[in-house]
Amino acid sequence: MFITLEGIEGAGKTTQIKEMVGFLENRGRSCTVTREPGGTAIGKKIRSILLDPECGEMHPLAELLLYNADRAQHVETLIKPALDAGKTVICDRFFDATTVYQGYARGLDIGLIMTLHQLVLGGLKPDMTILFDLPAETGLTRAWKAVRQGDRTNRETRFEEEKLEFHEQVRNGYLDMARQEPTRFRVIDARQDQKRVKEEILRILAI
Ligand code: TMP
Repeated sequence: MFITLEGIEGAGKTTQIKEMVGFLENRGRSCTVTREPGGTAIGKKIRSILLDPECGEMHPLAELLLYNADRAQHVETLIKPALDAGKTVICDRFFDATTVYQGYARGLDIGLIMTLHQLVLGGLKPDMTILFDLPAETGLTRAWKAVRQGDRTNRETRFEEEKLEFHEQVRNGYLDMARQEPTRFRVIDARQDQKRVKEEILRILAI
């Protein structure tokens, strides 16, 4: 089973992964936890370029291709082998992030993005995508607080530095995708406290 987590900055998805793994492993599933960008050794190097606030002048097409390079390495060397070995793979962000960040928010051609998805993923698609939804302003406030408190490195803030409007486009993009694929997407109200969010996720996973 392949589960992906999506949401804007500060949605709290990373915090919930440990609980999800505990729950699934108690039910006899062996989990592989990973993320994008940066799920592999090469991906970590790509991640440091993509999220570096000093790379502000990166061309949107270069950005799109770097996310896809990270994903190609990730899918071929980690995700597919783990799924083939019968593991449950939980991935913190995946291809939907490219559709909304580079497509809906950056404005790159959605047709081009779909072509790259096809090239990199072939027929691979998550079985379930949990979308952590909350207003962009709330998410950004949380994200910057995490940076100030040192819970998140200040060397990875290139997207946090985008305008509020960019993050609103990302949120709307995700909600649009969830409406288009209601069977794959589960939308969670991420404004709730962590305990409530956890309960909601575990209810979803129990099905
Ligand atoms: P995160 O690992 O802390 O979630 O940061 C990853 C950032 O990269 C986040 O701002 C979303 C962005 N991103 C894209 O723009 N496109 C993508 O395809 C992916 C996977 C992430």
